[in-house]
Parts: sequence; structure tokens; C-alpha cells
Amino acid sequence: MKINQEVWTMMIIPPADYPNTIKTKFKELFGQEALIIRSPGRINLIGEHLDYNMGYVLPAAINKAIWLGIQKRDDQAISIYSLDYDAHYQTGMHNIFPSGKLWPDYILGVVEQIQKKHKLKNGFNIVFGGDIPPGAGLSSSAALECAAAFALNELFRLGYEKMDLVAIGQAAENEFVGVKCGIMDQFASVFGKREHLIRLDCRNLNYVHVPFHANGIRVILFDTRVKHSLADSAYNERREQCEKGVDLIQEFYPEVRSLRDANQEMLDTFVKPVDEIVYRRCTYVVQEIQRLLKGCADLEKDDLISFGKRMFETHAGLKDLYEVSCDELDLLVDLVKDNPAVIGARMMGGGFGGCTINLVKTEAAEDLIKKVSDAYLSKTGTEMFVYEVAIEDGTGIV
Ligand code: GLA
Repeated sequence: MKINQEVWTMMIIPPADYPNTIKTKFKELFGQEALIIRSPGRINLIGEHLDYNMGYVLPAAINKAIWLGIQKRDDQAISIYSLDYDAHYQTGMHNIFPSGKLWPDYILGVVEQIQKKHKLKNGFNIVFGGDIPPGAGLSSSAALECAAAFALNELFRLGYEKMDLVAIGQAAENEFVGVKCGIMDQFASVFGKREHLIRLDCRNLNYVHVPFHANGIRVILFDTRVKHSLADSAYNERREQCEKGVDLIQEFYPEVRSLRDANQEMLDTFVKPVDEIVYRRCTYVVQEIQRLLKGCADLEKDDLISFGKRMFETHAGLKDLYEVSCDELDLLVDLVKDNPAVIGARMMGGGFGGCTINLVKTEAAEDLIKKVSDAYLSKTGTEMFVYEVAIEDGTGIV
């Protein structure tokens, strides 16, 4: 299933100056000066589907973001306006239910989490918009959740730390939206740092900012512009399959609490004879944890060539073992894999559509983009989108 045309038309409109457009619209709609928050999308270099398996991830916040204007109201109403959809949603602080439209739910889910503890009385107005393409696997939903959590924390002086905002965003997605995502997207959005990757250990949430000087390399995303409808249900299913693998091992090794604690021998002995599919999923995870560690060592040595090879291996694992790729993503990786201009490439994010991430030699990028765009169009009938990414700071006040 292709993403609805309306969404894509919206994205080819030239990018707005979001902070100022939101300020002006806010004044026009509500007669107030808005507090403006910026919250970015993310890329992930390596370590896919490892966050909910207590492994490591290597994401970064990017130069595509949600901007959200907010101000208090005197009554208990909540009034939200989406600039990009040109749509309003209204409810009240004591009437927080899924909207049936999805986009308001990312904000309402955050309100629900905050209300569990604070029982706020006053409502608020919001105007938001942004240039993170929805459905492209760049975490526009996490960016919106983190923008809302950050904004409400500022507005009502709730005293949350950054880590609390991440947890609120993730809980909103898990409980209100119903996608059992891990912590990577919200973490990257909040903790992003300009020109740095984040090496996050999802077991204990320790992290380090790793400088990323892509000397002579550009980070380029090729957007398939498809999102297959099974993406969310398949995501939750993968998570359950990993849990099943852990359960099977735990019968013999009670100390194994996640696939982070497992090894290939355990999988071969206790999982393979019982469930071949679960075995394949778990094998990908155990291999990817090792791949990420080796990839981080490559980066420390400035060895992007070895790192890039691992990205191709990750793609193969996601395609053949974890089975979260799709024809369009595989095509985009196939089109670059023998091209010497491309150091590494793979599908990125949850899967079943969205983008591939490519590390491309600077001088060869334009030529490559042209070649891949033409080939993708002729094979699929769809024009792909291309985004060049810069690594930026995380959520903050503008
Ligand atoms: C989605 C989820 C993340 C993570 C990735 C896969 O983006 O929201 O938590 O699991 O997929 O790495």
C-alpha cells in the first residue's frame, strides 16, 4: 500500500520557515505569543531493531524537525492546529481519548502520561508543523511526542529531566498509539548533539556522544516513498518473536533476560529445534549486536570502509533473517552495492518502506543520485525522494 497522496503532495511544497510561520499562525488563531520548540527526526547508522532487545544503537538527530508553538489557556480545553495538514483538533484535559486521526494522538498520548502524575487543570493551544517526511522512517512521530513533552514541561514547569521526556514520549507511543517501539527514536530526538552520533546502551541507558566527522563522505537518504500497511503489526510481532526466543533460552539459563545476554550457541541449542522463524529473528539480533560493536571500533579507527561493509551486512540480515525489508528497499540497496562511490548502505528504521541510508563519497554524490533516481523510477514507476542529512542538536527552545 502506498502512502496517501495528500501526504506526499504536502512535502513537495517548498519548506516553510516553520518557527516564524508558526508564530504568526499562533497569533492569528489564538491571539497569543507562542513558546516555540524544535524537536528533530533521527537517522541510525547501525544497530537496527536492537533497542527493545537491550542491545546498542548508534543514532543521531538530524536537520529535519518538528516545530511546535504552545501557550496556556484559561480554561481546560486543548486546541491543536496542524500547519501541514491544515487541520484542527479540539478536546479537553479530562477527555483524552484516541482521536481516530493519528496525528493528534502523538500529543494526546503525551498529555495522558503527564496527567497520570500531575492532574493539570489548565488546557493549552498548539500549532505545529515540520519537514520530517511522515512514513519515511525518520521518526516524525517521536519528534512530535518529544516536542509536546518538552513544551508541556516548560509551560507548566513540571521539572522533568531530559530522560523523563524520553520515557514519556516512548510510553505515549507504546500505550496510546499502540506501537511497542523501543527507546531509540525518542532518545535520539532529545539527546542529539550537532556532528555527533549517540552510542546508546539500551540495557542501562548509558550513552556517549561519538564525534562524526564524515570527511569526504555525505550521508544521503533515498526515500522509497512506500510504507507497507503491515509495518506496525509486523514490528510488534518481531518484538514478540524475540521475547519468545528469550523465554526458550531462559528455561535453561534463567539469567538470560534479553537477547543481549544470549549467544549463537544458545540459539542453536534451545531455539532452533523449537521454532525456526524465532531462531532466524534471534540470530539476526545476536549478530547485529556484535556487528555494532565492531562498527564502533571501525569508527574509532576512522575506518569508514570497514564500517560501510557492515552496513551492507546489516541490510542482508534485516532482509533475510529479520525479514523487515521490502522490494523497494532491496532495490535501492542493490542499485548502489557495486558502486565504488558508496561506502555503505542499508535500509533504516523499522522497515517495510521508508528510507535507505547511504554513505557516499562527496564528489560522486550528484552522479549517483541521478543514476539511482532514474533506475528507481523506471523499475517502480515511483519517483524516489532524496535527503542529504546533517547531524544537529536535539530537542530545545528556538
Ligand atoms: C522504529 C522504532 C525504534 C527501533 C527501530 C528499529 O524506529 O520506533 O524503537 O526499534 O524501529 O531499529
